[in-house]
Amino acid sequence: MAAPRRRRLSLEGRTVLVTGASSGIGEATARAVAGRGATVLLVARRADELERVRSEVVAAGGHAAAYPCDLTDLDAIDALVTQVLAEHGAVDVLVNNAGRSIRRSLALSYDRFHDVERSMAINFFAPVRLTLGLLPAMRAQRLGHVVNVVTWGVQMKAPKFSAYIASKTALDAWSRVAARETWADDVTFTNMRFSLVRTAMSAPTEAYAGRGATPEAAAERVVRAIERRPPHVNTVAGTVGELLNLLAPRFADWLFHRFDRMFPDSKAAGG
Ligand SMILES: NC(=O)c1ccc[n+]([C@@H]2O[C@H](COP(=O)([O-])OP(=O)(O)OC[C@H]3O[C@@H](n4cnc5c(N)ncnc54)[C@H](OP(=O)(O)O)[C@@H]3O)[C@@H](O)[C@H]2O)c1
Repeated sequence: MAAPRRRRLSLEGRTVLVTGASSGIGEATARAVAGRGATVLLVARRADELERVRSEVVAAGGHAAAYPCDLTDLDAIDALVTQVLAEHGAVDVLVNNAGRSIRRSLALSYDRFHDVERSMAINFFAPVRLTLGLLPAMRAQRLGHVVNVVTWGVQMKAPKFSAYIASKTALDAWSRVAARETWADDVTFTNMRFSLVRTAMSAPTEAYAGRGATPEAAAERVVRAIERRPPHVNTVAGTVGELLNLLAPRFADWLFHRFDRMFPDSKAAGG
């Protein structure tokens, strides 16, 4: 089958669902897509924060609706999908942004298998369940785009992030495979492999204080990814790390081990 010509996706008049829209990158993305004329559907657990974002988007002249939902509850995701499709029809763009980062060494993790379980629940199972729910309508209308907010750790494989990076890598890989099946329907996927962004998530790690991009700058990159639909958005450092892992894996292990020793666990990681 011939490959369809990829249309540049204009956000004007589109329906965009953003998970984790109550703070950080998700909130900034919600404001940015609404500012470009999309109707934004805001999803997260904290109903009061979603309402704050919704009312501010509306006050600025945009269109928004809030859908409080705990995305670790798979039945709640199914109910969300049913409600959204009934109220808005097909979602044109899905931004799988809600997530949880855990930075904790193996030495502090031997009795914490639940770190692996909760990472997978929010970073892998939740976005896959939601995407599966929304994909049929996207494929039927023969247009859709899914953005996954993952991490440069997918390329770097940074120490102390084993559960987090494994769960984000699972989503990254799942979406690359899915994209090959939805190709002819003009439904595309972008994995955003962000480096550090200054949000509530990165705040507990003392070594990150004051570093990283603003959520607004990250949101602008998400908007560009929606419009241009590349398979992934990388950082230079992430790509260098990926090449190093590929070409000189033992040297990369030695190098990352040195970084591991330079940057100990944060106070928060001790529990
Ligand atoms: N900050 C960074 O340096 C960085 C770097 C690379 C990638 N990322 C990724 O960026 C994404 C956004 O994180 P952020 O940095 O913007 O942090 P954040 O401000 O803490 O945002 C996390 C969002 O996820 C939502 N969320 C968490 N658990 C949820 C659940 N069970 N159900 C529904 N929503 C849930 C939170 O909302 P509620 O608490 O209201 O549910 C919140 O809106 C994450 O996937 C993260 O892994 C962050």
